[in-house]
Formats: sequence, structure tokens, C-alpha cells
Amino acid sequence: MTTIKTVGVAGAGTMGAGIAIVAARAGFKTIVFDARQEALDRTRGQTEAFLKKSEERGKLPAGAAVAALSRWEGTTELSGLASCDIIIEAIFEDLAVKHQLFGQLNEVCPPATIFASNTSTISITEIAGGSGRPDRFVGMHFCLPAQLMKLIEMSPGLATSDETFKTAWAFAEAMGQKPVATQDTPGFILNYFLIPFNNDAIRLVEQGVAEPAGIDTAIKTALGYPMGPLELLDLVGMDTQKLLCEAMHGLTHEPRAACPPLVRRMIAAKRLGKKTGQGFHAYGDTKMFGA
Ligand SMILES: NC(=O)c1ccc[n+]([C@@H]2O[C@H](COP(=O)([O-])OP(=O)(O)OC[C@H]3O[C@@H](n4cnc5c(N)ncnc54)[C@H](O)[C@@H]3O)[C@@H](O)[C@H]2O)c1
Repeated sequence: MTTIKTVGVAGAGTMGAGIAIVAARAGFKTIVFDARQEALDRTRGQTEAFLKKSEERGKLPAGAAVAALSRWEGTTELSGLASCDIIIEAIFEDLAVKHQLFGQLNEVCPPATIFASNTSTISITEIAGGSGRPDRFVGMHFCLPAQLMKLIEMSPGLATSDETFKTAWAFAEAMGQKPVATQDTPGFILNYFLIPFNNDAIRLVEQGVAEPAGIDTAIKTALGYPMGPLELLDLVGMDTQKLLCEAMHGLTHEPRAACPPLVRRMIAAKRLGKKTGQGFHAYGDTKMFGA
């Protein structure tokens, strides 16, 4: 049983779009906030296409796509999130930017609203420290593509109350997701493995060992992964990968977590991945993964 009724999602980028689908599809009123109207418009279009495709494929019952869309609302005003019981933040991976957002949210939201961050590498305790309500703050790390992946890594900060953690956990289950508890450590569980692993794939490309398609095929075929590391990186985006590497390497000094030079060159060339149409692979559309 969950006490949550209205969900806020801050950031209508790659992750925010998927998280909002998960919430709206599960029956929650979902309000998506982004500073840029074009991000909201693009996300709304992708969401509609994804939900309709899910219905066509029989993954959703008839009428479920329209119903989920009717629960999805976009806003460029922070005050639009004031009625939310929980707000999941998925904006840029930058502590100062996150502190600024949560500081402002703390002014507009009632005390009972729970704040959650989808950060991949920044400490939950540190983000919570700038939120004005560290006891009602929790880490909820969804996986890419969030609209298809069930896992949520749930991390309490040092000051998170038991009640907050339990409420967020019950909410994760009510969305049909699979929560897993993890401490507030760099990369939690998944990225502790994935960041160095994905960088290894990039370094194989840098060294000319194999073409991206060959590397992806080898990993998918041998390990049974649904996506190869370079396909996944194209979804993650090179800009986000650079931030992830910098945060993870800065905290752990793990050499394999250091940002490979090719990532910086791809950013300079605007080869960010699926969102710019070109990454390790080429893309002819801006559809969401799975649509
Ligand atoms: N991409 C991934 O694979 C992945 C996976 C799990 C978690 N995360 C985490 O999710 C977060 C978002 O990552 P993403 O890849 O979706 O980023 P993204 O760049 O695709 O999207 C970020 C969105 O946030 C908006 N935004 C930025 N600052 C804002 C502000 N102050 N107010 C309102 N909107 C703002 C931007 O306009 C953009 O639409 C990061 O913390 C990242 O670490 C990313």
C-alpha cells in the first residue's frame, strides 16, 4: 500500500521521460517539470508514441495508453510541483545545480513532500544536505531505459528517516518496480560494475581492436545482455557518460572509471548518441527505446 498519489518528476530528459512513464502507467498523477518547454514537448511526443506502441504490442490493455497520458502533465513552473507527494529529480548530474533546484523546491512544497534523486554517482547525503529536508530525502536510482527496466536502487542518506525510506520503498513497489536497498556509495551496485565495463568497450574502439557493432554483438551473444555496451552508451549519452566518469573516478580513483579521451572527442563532434542521431552507431529517428 502506498500513500503517494501525485508524483513529480524534475527534468524531462532521457531518465525523467522514462520515470514519468513508469509513474503515469502505474496510475499515478504525474507532473513533469523542465526548465525548457522544448524538452517537455519532445518528451510528451515520445511518451505518447511509446505508450501507443506498448498497447499495439499487447503489453498494455486497450485504453491504457490514453489513460496514462491523461495522468501526464508538463510544466515549466517549479510551483507546478507544489501538489506532489514525492518528487523524483532527474536533472543534470551536478551537485550545485541539484542543490539549487531542491532549495527552491523546499520553498514551494509542503513539509510532507518527499524528495528523491535519481543521481547515478553523487552522494545522496550530499544532495540531501542542500535540500532543507535531509530526513525526507532518499535516493531512487532507476535504470536506463527506465520505461522498460524494473530495478530501482534505493539508498538512504545518513539523515533519511526510516519512515521516508519505507514510504519510498512502498511507492516503488506500487509502480510495479523492483527496489533493491543499497548504501549511499559511488555508483551504488549497478554503476560500480557498468561504468568501468562500458569504458573498457570504449577503449577497445579507441585501440581499433574491433568495430562498435562487433563489440556489441560479442557481448550480447556471449553474456546474454539485451544491449551491447556501446548501444547502451548511445542511450546514456556521451555528455552524461563524461559526468558519470568524472564523478566516479573523482571519488574512487579507479583507473578504469576515468573518462576515455574518445568520449571527449565525441562530445566536441556532437556525437552524443541517440539524442543527436549519432554516437557509436547512427540513428534515423528520435523515438524512445522500445517505441
Ligand atoms: N542517462 C543515464 O543512463 C542515467 C541512468 C540513471 C540515472 N541517471 C541520472 O539521471 C539524471 C539525469 O540524467 P539524464 O541522462 O536524463 O540527463 P539529460 O541531460 O538527458 O536530461 C536532463 C534534463 O534536465 C533538465 N534540467 C537541467 N537542469 C534543470 C533545472 N535546474 N531545472 C529544470 N530542468 C533542468 C534539462 O533541460 C534536461 O531536459 C542525472 O542525475 C543522471 O546521473 C542517468
